[in-house]
Amino acid sequence: MKTLLTGGAGYIGSHTAVAMIEAGHDVVIVDNYYNSSPEAVRRVEQITGREIPLYEADAADKEVMREILKKEMPDCIIHFAGLKAVGESVAKPVEYYRNNIDTTLTLLELMKELRLTNFVFSSSATVYGDDNIPPFTETMPKGACTNPYGWTKWMQEQILRDAQTASAADEGTPELSVVLLRYFNPVGAHESGLIGEDPQGIPNNLMPYISQVAVGRRDHLTVFGDDYDTPDGTCRRDYIHVMDLAEGHVKAAEYAAGNKGTEVFNLGTGEPYSVLEMVEAFGKACGHPVKYEIGPRRAGDVQDSWANADKAKEILGWEAKRGLDEICRDAWNWQSKNPNGFNA
Ligand code: NAD
Ligand code: UD1
Repeated sequence: MKTLLTGGAGYIGSHTAVAMIEAGHDVVIVDNYYNSSPEAVRRVEQITGREIPLYEADAADKEVMREILKKEMPDCIIHFAGLKAVGESVAKPVEYYRNNIDTTLTLLELMKELRLTNFVFSSSATVYGDDNIPPFTETMPKGACTNPYGWTKWMQEQILRDAQTASAADEGTPELSVVLLRYFNPVGAHESGLIGEDPQGIPNNLMPYISQVAVGRRDHLTVFGDDYDTPDGTCRRDYIHVMDLAEGHVKAAEYAAGNKGTEVFNLGTGEPYSVLEMVEAFGKACGHPVKYEIGPRRAGDVQDSWANADKAKEILGWEAKRGLDEICRDAWNWQSKNPNGFNA
């Protein structure tokens, strides 16, 4: 199967490219390098020993994307391309709505035109909102998001559902297959240490921040609140190894190729860990304690978020295999070998 990965030079896309190739599929990557570099794709080629067709393009650019899709005619598109910084989305909502929604609309228009049918989308557990109580199941109603980034995911899910429904009703177009993947907290790196997460500037997310403290790039972590109603007072999340997540995409793309309709799957482990548990586990992996201080709560944080991951296991035959030790080991391997990310 040939899969086209928009945003394939990014963190999750590059790991998925490895997993796809290892599962025997072909991969084509489109990225505008807004938040990545072609070096990540070169490293994927190094890991897999395969040359990957790579296009520098904006996935929202209809003319350019038409030429790429016509040339490649992929069996499945996996749409990773998007802006993802929650705080930035509050400051620049229009840019977030424009980029994230436009890319999806462009791809849907072109899929109809070229009669392509299979689509896998990077959604987020953030669409469960504040009111649902974990573990989150796919049948729960979507909630209200706390920021524009979250709303872009919420809206793209709806747009994709509506397009799928219309395609099923229209005898003139082939029926779409849409798989919406709700990621929990992707962390870790490929075990080779050649690819991993390389955030620009000060990391917003916990694991890259811990890694940069551990490697000496930052002085200490600020733990955002220790007065939550949890055993140690800090928030709990479902941290999933990025290679487990990547393998979930292989199963999702294979599922999309063999089924019609819209399906939603959580990609998580079902196992929550607190911020302090993550700090401690990382300290063991890197061989020294990670310095931290307790600070105030971060606006918009939910106390608890973790998946019920049963549906993906039952239908896709997928479950996360790697635990916290592997997550921290691989994150540290990547960070210590590439202290400045891909720019080293
Ligand atoms: P990332 O920023 O590393 O990757 C996204 C890639 O998309 C980047 O390479 C960027 O250059 C590219 N891109 C952005 N806009 C583009 C455009 N218009 N045209 C072409 N390329 C474009 O982020 P990631 O962590 O790999 O996330 C991938 C997807 O998963 C995103 O849609 C993100 O919102 C979603 N997601 C991520 C997380 C997470 O914690 N990392 C959680 C839930 C959902
Ligand atoms: C965040 C986003 C979420 C997005 C997800 C993608 C917010 C409010 N939510 O989720 O919409 O889908 O990233 O990965 O930004 N923490 C600290 N100190 C830090 C950083 C984080 O204590 O320096 C804590 C947070 O309070 C949270 C946990 O670590 O309890 C995880 O944070 P993070 O990695 O940012 O992920 P989420 O908040 O779950």
